[in-house]
Amino acid sequence: MNTDNFLEILQNSKQEIDEALPAKVESLETRTDLKEAMLYSILAGGKRLRPILFLMTIEAFGKDSTQSIDVGCAIEMVHTYSLIHDDLPAMDNDDFRRGNLTNHKVYGEAMAILAGDALLTLAFQTIAQSSAVTSDLIVELIGKLAVAAGPEGMVDGQAADIEAEGKTIALNDLEHIHRHKTGALLGYSIVAGAKIAGGSKEQIAQLTQFAHHLGLAFQIQDDILDVEGDESVIGKPIGSDLENKKSTYPQLLTLEGAKEKLVQEVAQAKEYLYKANIDHSWLEKFTDYMVSRDH
Ligand code: IPE
Ligand code: IPE
Ligand code: MG
Ligand code: MG
Ligand code: MG
Repeated sequence: MNTDNFLEILQNSKQEIDEALPAKVESLETRTDLKEAMLYSILAGGKRLRPILFLMTIEAFGKDSTQSIDVGCAIEMVHTYSLIHDDLPAMDNDDFRRGNLTNHKVYGEAMAILAGDALLTLAFQTIAQSSAVTSDLIVELIGKLAVAAGPEGMVDGQAADIEAEGKTIALNDLEHIHRHKTGALLGYSIVAGAKIAGGSKEQIAQLTQFAHHLGLAFQIQDDILDVEGDESVIGKPIGSDLENKKSTYPQLLTLEGAKEKLVQEVAQAKEYLYKANIDHSWLEKFTDYMVSRDH
């Protein structure tokens, strides 16, 4: 990522992940059908925002991120598993993801559940087997990923999201859902990067707040796109939240209110980013990129 051009940096970073990630699955000694189902979603063309955020955070400390690609792959594995399960009939029941049929529509529910299980587990295997960082750091990275992805993180948010279907919930509760189902893994991507780069306690505290606001902003944008996105661009069905009677920011605050909240969260995110005392220019641009996305 040794270039001044932001879009080039983004493209290079994405390419690194696009190459390293499938290789982790392809090299597994496992059943062909399971591997095929895993690869289907891994290769379906995600934006790779979380691993890019992770790599960019390391670079913002002036460190080389190349050695840490395995941890970036692990983050994207957890994310991809969460999408496979999120689309299942028992959850959001969606037929399209990233412009393709959802995993269970191609491989059936049982294999989709197992492909998700396999990707989640492979994420921890990948970090455990990584030689890039010290053993102490590996243990810490695994522990923090478990917190971000598990019952104190993403799974809490997903359970709360499902429980809130058809109900009117308070704004605070919606914030809890978004911070957990989406914010936790985004937060991990940033904090893991800072840890690997040797960030101080103070820097990590500021970046944790940055991640908090960025994660919320990102999910608010996702809710907005579910209302006014273009289905052919976004690659997943529009109106899914309404159909599932989800609690979302547009539903609670109106579309205009949700957009205002998004702007506020982005501004707060950047304030904390500036306080982290790192080279924040790419992360700042990436923040704008993440929340102005159309897909
Ligand atoms: C979609 O995440 C699910 C949310 C948490 C909002 P992304 O918008 O990052 O999805 P992909 O990976 O690019 O498909
Ligand atoms: C999904 O939120 C969050 C996770 C998968 C953890 P959504 O249900 O809003 O995501 P999309 O809109 O299906 O991508
Ligand atoms: Mg969902
Ligand atoms: Mg969904
Ligand atoms: Mg959504």
